Amino acid sequence: MNRSRSRVGAAAAAIGFVLVAGCGGGQPAADDSPEGRAFQYRHAVMTVVGQKMLTLGGIARGEITADDAAFTKAASDLAVMAGMTTEAFMAQGIPSGSRALPAIWESWSDFERRAQDFQQAAQAVAEAAQRGGLEAARDLVRPLQQTCGGCHSTYRKPEE
Ligand code: HEC
Repeated sequence: MNRSRSRVGAAAAAIGFVLVAGCGGGQPAADDSPEGRAFQYRHAVMTVVGQKMLTLGGIARGEITADDAAFTKAASDLAVMAGMTTEAFMAQGIPSGSRALPAIWESWSDFERRAQDFQQAAQAVAEAAQRGGLEAARDLVRPLQQTCGGCHSTYRKPEE
């Protein structure tokens, strides 16, 4: 359970997960219980979210060279995935490998509100990008990123 998660951050760890899963042995796939399947689903959603956010952040900071079309696509993709956050946590349960905290279901309305804030922030980036490309959307990327961190710090177990 202690893959190379520590330094590179959750999103990079998710790449490792995808690679492992691609070889047929990913940890979330191992558990076929209802809560195991729910974990696989949110793992998949959050993995894509993590990748799209890396792309957006990288472009916004000028670390990845990309045109407005690539930025706009990543923002639109992220907004769609953000809309799946709430359903990814509908089923309760914390199987092995999951870092979900019980507080998610104890404070469901707050969790749901944070998921909505996340979706709205992602939508705002996507709409600004559609109107005016990267320049119009750049300042909205950080507020979007803060919705990730705000939810993780409350509802995701710290790395071990
Ligand atoms: C409403 C709450 C919430 C928001 C908003 C949210 N996340 Fe998450 N995320 C979670 C929780 C909870 C987990 C842990 C799920 C588990 O382990 O069962 C998680 C897990 C992850 C993972 C690890 C996936 C895995 O299974 O290995 C990544 C990567 C991630 N989130 C990225 C992001 C990024 C990037 C954003 C913002 C663009 C974001 N998340 C927004 C709650 C949220």
